[in-house]
Amino acid sequence: MLFSSLATALVLLTSSVSALPKPPPAANLDSLAARYPKSDLPAPDGLQLKYVLLGVGTQNYTCNGNETAAPGTTGAVAKLYDIGTRLNRDPLAPWKISSISGLALSLSSFPNLLEGYLMLEGYNEWMGNHFFTPMDATTSLPTFYLDHVKATPFPIAMVSKKNATDAPKSACPGTKNEGAIQWLQLVDEKGLSAGGVNTVYRVETAGGNKPAVCKDQKATFEVPYTAQYWVYGPKA
Ligand SMILES: *[C@@H]1O[C@H](CO)[C@@H](O)[C@H](O)[C@H]1NC(C)=O
Ligand SMILES: *[C@@H]1O[C@H](CO)[C@@H](O)[C@H](O)[C@H]1NC(C)=O
Ligand SMILES: *[C@@H]1O[C@H](CO)[C@@H](O)[C@H](O)[C@H]1NC(C)=O
Repeated sequence: MLFSSLATALVLLTSSVSALPKPPPAANLDSLAARYPKSDLPAPDGLQLKYVLLGVGTQNYTCNGNETAAPGTTGAVAKLYDIGTRLNRDPLAPWKISSISGLALSLSSFPNLLEGYLMLEGYNEWMGNHFFTPMDATTSLPTFYLDHVKATPFPIAMVSKKNATDAPKSACPGTKNEGAIQWLQLVDEKGLSAGGVNTVYRVETAGGNKPAVCKDQKATFEVPYTAQYWVYGPKA
């Protein structure tokens, strides 16, 4: 009921907002930086907040036919949208930050509704993609490839997991109750990043978790998720 009326409202509203002008890019995200979602992860001390992105995509897993084994993790793919520019000047940001991921995940099975929601909130600026870059036969690095950012060079973060903590119990558990993936501190330890970014926090996760064991799973499978990626770099 709630969902269907929400859906109707979004459809009606999006037909009228598509002509709204885009806001100019934020000069900085200093006011949003103070609202960084706190957790047991080490704080981003001494770094400057550069982007806050909503990732909408899938976590990819593998199984090898052993029903009692845990699935392997092969990576993730997600589209990254700019939510920071709007949140930075939104007085409701403290309340919105914790609800965006769950709402976007629940709408993500209906691309028109998701697009409508992103447009309404001004989160529809597509900044680039998240994927994993293979380094050798066994390693691949989480990559944030922000090629839609108008900067030369455009930002690329190639990072490794430095710290992890379970998502809070209040996190959206996903479209099939898979559970929310962990919050992560991801840091560039190889000097492969570009464009003034070197640290990414994956926070406010929704869904994406793997099942405990491979029973009834295909050889490769995907679990839908959303997350916020708070992207930092050295202070200018
Ligand atoms: C993660 O960070 C916490 C502090 O926020 C620290 O106590 C813990 O040892 C760190 N874990 C790892 C694996 O570095
Ligand atoms: C299946 O996975 C379980 C749990 O990891 C392991 O103990 C078992 O040896 C595996 N079986 C085979 C046939 O590889
Ligand atoms: C994850 O799944 C997506 C969608 O099927 C696919 O395009 C992508 O190549 C997969 N990535 C990995 C690392 O397995």
